[in-house]
Amino acid sequence: MKNISESRELFGSRFGIIAATAGSAVGLGNIWRFPYVAGANGGGAFLLIYVGFVLAIGIPVMLSEFVIGRAAHKNAIGSFRALAPGKPWYLVGIMGIGAAFMILAFYTAVAGWTLEYVYQSIIDGFSGKTPEQLEEMFTGFRSSSFRPLLWFFIFMILTAWIIMSGVKKGIEKSTKILMPLLVIILLILCVRSLTLPGASEGVKFLFKPDFSKITPRSVLEALGQAFFSLSIGMGTLITYASYVPKHNNLMKTSGYVAMVDTVIAILAGLAIFPAVFAFNIPPMSGEGLVFMTLPNIFGQMSGGYFFSIIFFVLLTVAALTSTISLLEVIVAFFVEELKIKRKAATWISAILVSILGIVATLSWGTLKGVKIFGKMIFDFLDYTSANILLPLGGFFIVLFVAWFFGRDKVEAELTNNGKLKSKLLLFFYFAIRFLAPLCIAFIFLNGIGLLRF
Ligand code: PHE
Repeated sequence: MKNISESRELFGSRFGIIAATAGSAVGLGNIWRFPYVAGANGGGAFLLIYVGFVLAIGIPVMLSEFVIGRAAHKNAIGSFRALAPGKPWYLVGIMGIGAAFMILAFYTAVAGWTLEYVYQSIIDGFSGKTPEQLEEMFTGFRSSSFRPLLWFFIFMILTAWIIMSGVKKGIEKSTKILMPLLVIILLILCVRSLTLPGASEGVKFLFKPDFSKITPRSVLEALGQAFFSLSIGMGTLITYASYVPKHNNLMKTSGYVAMVDTVIAILAGLAIFPAVFAFNIPPMSGEGLVFMTLPNIFGQMSGGYFFSIIFFVLLTVAALTSTISLLEVIVAFFVEELKIKRKAATWISAILVSILGIVATLSWGTLKGVKIFGKMIFDFLDYTSANILLPLGGFFIVLFVAWFFGRDKVEAELTNNGKLKSKLLLFFYFAIRFLAPLCIAFIFLNGIGLLRF
């Protein structure tokens, strides 16, 4: 067998591994989705449940992907083929590539909006506008054709350009710069938001546990959010782990990545809610919060011009380190399974994703009336990938590691052949054998409507 380090690129440093993997996890999911979902589901109470899920289910699923990827040193499909030859487990990898296509298509559409908003911030496009005008600005932009598509392509090219440069010079190098930048911007925004008069209401909104708002449904929302936010259940982390050298401590890495992802989601809440409450604006949901409510606040806040630019740059950076991880899943597959050169594979993948992406981007405009299973195209892609493909993928990934791969091999991978020790191994086995599959089965059945709370 060929020495892997000769035939395949690996990440060069521990910081690089964490920057790349945390870069994948930290994204639009943390900065606009988490704050509003947490806010709508009881704030602090939701946060507690969310953190519980990250620890009890998120980290075990993440570690399972790490084990698969590093044991095989291959892409999402190739890894299953190598570890379970002749068995149908590779279908889990195929589903993962499918999910990467779908998520990348709609995610890049939203990432494109963030570029439009960086541009609007720079030309001072928010100041002097009423909330209604800002709403009109967003909905008008989103339902037009040319500009959203233009930004979509710019973002896709940016993503492809990084991926083309390879694992070390592309992914690792860029995330090592972008992730610290992201943390610095976020901290500046937190300080600004928390020092506004009346900020404490926003802090209370996010942290005060209100268990009366917790329903079985919001428990499931917390689990779904954990999956999407940690980038688990579709082979992104299998692919990234395949570039991790054998001496890396996978258990520690998964702990760091989950911690960074969670802390950044909380910081995003602290950057957004205190400002929202300080300006007496009712916190709205989802894309509205970031693209309509925040511009309104920036328009009124002293220093708003500067803060709006860095906020939308933050969103762009967060999105970019996630889109590269999604594109890499597809490119690694093309390079290794179909034997296409990296550059060509990147172009082909980017073009294929763009076809779906154009459709997703035009969901509010030209293709407004088109519905799939009663949902507009964008929502269909979002819903199917997050609520169906990720939980299903996560379910099979833990089952594979827990019941099929063999405990000795799992243990060898986690302990680097006995060199590392951890008291948490027993918990890990319990989590992947019982806890995680049962909980995931729950959200899945709820997601497809077989079980309704
Ligand atoms: N975790 C990313 C976010 O929170 C989204 C993502 C999902 C990225 C799945 C890769 C794979 O924005």
